Amino acid sequence: MLTRYLKKVDTITAGKLLKDGKLVAFPTETVYGLGARADSDKSIKRIFEVKGRPTYNPLIVHVSSMAMAQDIAVFDDESTKLLKVFWPGPITFVLPLKKNSRISTLVTAGLNTIAIRFPSSIVAQNILTAAKTPIAAPSANLSGKISPTSADLVSDYLDGRVDAILDGGVSELGLESTIIMTNPIRILRPGSITKQNIEAVIEKKVLGESKSTIILAPGQLKSHYAPVSNIRLNVNDPEPSELLLGFGNVANAALNLSLSGDLHEAAANLFKMLSNIDQKAIKNGRRSIAISPIPEKGVGIAINDRIKRAAADRGQARPAEVDK
Ligand code: TXA
Ligand code: MG
Repeated sequence: MLTRYLKKVDTITAGKLLKDGKLVAFPTETVYGLGARADSDKSIKRIFEVKGRPTYNPLIVHVSSMAMAQDIAVFDDESTKLLKVFWPGPITFVLPLKKNSRISTLVTAGLNTIAIRFPSSIVAQNILTAAKTPIAAPSANLSGKISPTSADLVSDYLDGRVDAILDGGVSELGLESTIIMTNPIRILRPGSITKQNIEAVIEKKVLGESKSTIILAPGQLKSHYAPVSNIRLNVNDPEPSELLLGFGNVANAALNLSLSGDLHEAAANLFKMLSNIDQKAIKNGRRSIAISPIPEKGVGIAINDRIKRAAADRGQARPAEVDK
């Protein structure tokens, strides 16, 4: 299949392609997503096929307005309070699915809940507005690979497999959205919007994040974002056989997530640098990556969540359990 390459200004074309049932990869403020009409079994089936994603792992539906969101999901008081502060933005709500919503059952993997997100990226919003219908979009990577934060990375994975890729530049935040569930509010996947940010709005304690051991989001399985090389975490003194992915003012780093020790900068650089250092390690035959300690606070919690998954022993996860 010939993949069309669209520019940042081509949002109306991208939206029309989506409306026509095509698969289009597009940027959001978190990572690039692979979009398709959420009400089309045929298009959604293709997403699972292209990514090699297990069908039990449900997708996030993206909307371009509150009205669109309310047609699909039932919002309670606490989620309404939160979305007034954080939407549009990098937070996804898992809520009861509205009856007669027309969302394909493949999107929700047959669950009676739905994950829903209103992105703040203007390019994403323009595409969704032009599509005029809810768009399901998982991260635009292949099964078990690192999420893409640029159109080039998407192209490496999906060229020739999808109808179009829209290049909207580098994703500003670089980590997938925070996913929360309500009643009571708990974090299923940490992200740039932190537990503290959420607690400040609802004025009570929130479960989850680093302490969460229960797999509530079916995609939150142990091994994820797996590079080819082995990864060792919390390393201050790398072995000669290792390439160091540094954080802060450390010596001999092959790449540095943030020289100044800024966690937001580190989050934005994480997936691109993990992918680059993996390529370097493979090229020079080291095949081993060491990562500096990342403080377990604020966005550092989400960064540690992703690198722990990247470092997880792939041998321990059954292949079918690896998130796609
Ligand atoms: O930032 C993001 O969220 C990106 C961009 C493209 O929006 N999307 C993304 O989608 O990360 P994906 O499919 O890679 O991750 C979606 C996660 C999976 O872990 C999935 O299991 C979980 O959301 N999920 C989806 N529906 C769910 C539901 N009803 N209940 C619990 N978890 C759900
Ligand atoms: Mg993903």
